[in-house]
Amino acid sequence: MEMDVPPKMLASLTMTILMTMMATSMTLAADAAVLKGQARALLIWKDSLDNQSHQALHSWGNTSTPCNWRGISCDTGVQRHQHWPVISGISLRGMRLRGALESLNFSALRTLTRLDLSHNLLTGSIPPSIEVLRELHALLLQGNQIRGSIPLGLGNLTKLYSLMLHENELSGEIPSQIGNMSSLVTLNLSSNHLVGHIPCEIGT
Ligand SMILES: *[C@@H]1O[C@H](CO)[C@@H](O)[C@H](O)[C@H]1NC(C)=O
Ligand SMILES: *[C@@H]1O[C@H](CO)[C@@H](O)[C@H](O)[C@H]1NC(C)=O
Ligand SMILES: *[C@@H]1O[C@H](CO)[C@@H](O)[C@H](O)[C@H]1NC(C)=O
Ligand SMILES: *[C@@H]1O[C@H](CO)[C@@H](O)[C@H](O)[C@H]1NC(C)=O
Ligand SMILES: *[C@@H]1O[C@H](CO)[C@@H](O)[C@H](O)[C@H]1NC(C)=O
Ligand SMILES: *[C@@H]1O[C@H](CO)[C@@H](O)[C@H](O)[C@H]1NC(C)=O
Repeated sequence: MEMDVPPKMLASLTMTILMTMMATSMTLAADAAVLKGQARALLIWKDSLDNQSHQALHSWGNTSTPCNWRGISCDTGVQRHQHWPVISGISLRGMRLRGALESLNFSALRTLTRLDLSHNLLTGSIPPSIEVLRELHALLLQGNQIRGSIPLGLGNLTKLYSLMLHENELSGEIPSQIGNMSSLVTLNLSSNHLVGHIPCEIGT
């Protein structure tokens, strides 16, 4: 059976297809720019680490896409309607990485769902900017030499289900904002220099 499509309808259909294609290519360009910014943030952090860490991360920078660099995983983020891969995970457990945690530009890494830098030689503090990692499910920083207090902004990470900060040099009190992490299932703050009491908000 043949369908007669009126010319007017055909024109509007063509227009719709063209506009969809334009919108798609604009989204692709934007996503590609996100990935590029993420690669840049990783390389800046690598530069800030010591020489031995550079060897561990020698694959970083050797291809234009960070998705096949050691410890990096990417995702096309179906629920965010992304068409281009973005970084979803950093898993660099026990690689003797030495440097400051806060040299990592978290603003560029908002698509992270997993950040595992556990059992390294990282110093510095957990920067307040970590609160921009709204997609984060797991934050594993245990077994480092991280100092300073637990940032209040962690309370904004409502998708976080695993927070492992044990075996560090964290000080100060446990913030009551910890009760705002409504998805939290696993928490370990053991072996730090925390003082004060356990906030009652933890009951939420
Ligand atoms: C690190 O590597 C650079 C060049 O690769 C070298 O000049 C520098 O001396 C090294 N530093 C240490 C502490 O090994
Ligand atoms: C790039 O990294 C891969 C994986 O680590 C390695 O096998 C390869 O030799 C590297 N290529 C260059 C040109 O450094
Ligand atoms: C951190 O990343 C953001 C987003 O990619 C960028 O706008 C900003 O300039 C970066 N900051 C630094 C210090 O590189
Ligand atoms: C984190 O949550 C607090 C309390 O709702 C809010 O004031 C703050 O703006 C949030 N931070 C960001 C970066 O959205
Ligand atoms: C954080 O939790 C407190 C109660 O513990 C609540 O009053 C406050 O509205 C929550 N803030 C956010 C941003 O959910
Ligand atoms: C929490 O960390 C301590 C070490 O500081 C460890 O002994 C303990 O097994 C950990 N607990 C969990 C549930 O991971």
